[in-house]
Amino acid sequence: MNFFFLISSSTIRTSIPKKIKSVVGGQERVDVFSRILLNLCRWKNRYNAKFVVVFYLSHPEENFTFTIPLNLISPPIENELEATEFMVNLLNSPDKLGINIEKQYFFSLLSSLASDCDFFYLTSSGKDISKLDEDSMKSNNLCFILGSQMDLTDTQEENLNKFDPTLISVGDKEYLASHVVSIINHYLFTKFQ
Ligand SMILES: C[S@@+](CC[C@H](N)C(=O)[O-])C[C@H]1O[C@@H](n2cnc3c(N)ncnc32)[C@H](O)[C@@H]1O
Repeated sequence: MNFFFLISSSTIRTSIPKKIKSVVGGQERVDVFSRILLNLCRWKNRYNAKFVVVFYLSHPEENFTFTIPLNLISPPIENELEATEFMVNLLNSPDKLGINIEKQYFFSLLSSLASDCDFFYLTSSGKDISKLDEDSMKSNNLCFILGSQMDLTDTQEENLNKFDPTLISVGDKEYLASHVVSIINHYLFTKFQ
């Protein structure tokens, strides 16, 4: 089984050069992606499953998808500085890292993922993650979809709803995206290990 994590950001731009210091300072909130990346790199070592992170840049002049199988990251990311460096390199010189990058609309991205995965949309109004039917989750790859520092836009949600996602919640408070990723993994680890 593979676990996909799709996170969308409307603020990150590939046209504006990044430095580690500016990312740490919050430029375009690339730091949200680097924290998610670090969390997922740490969690992936605890499973047999393959982890794939899909970062989507939804700014109208971007529409870029970065698909990153975490087992291909070398050397492995072990701390916040390395995660930030990776994101800076990915956005400044994408070709050098050998990561698959595609320019596509959000709907096209969802269509290609849907051929391979069941969708779970993370929203505080969804069904409690601990009440999901575990057996039905074991039959296919799982794709968890969430916003970054902002929620998905209404248009993105409309597109996503066409794929009939399961809406899941990790609580009635709003959490940081990187924390939501950790909570999902805590759940997956206890249920699927
Ligand atoms: C930092 S939140 C987005 C901004 C947030 N809605 C706000 O206005 O404070 C990032 C993403 O994490 C997910 N998320 C946050 N809290 C959640 C919760 N309690 N249950 C499920 N997903 C959550 C959602 O997908 C959300 O778009």
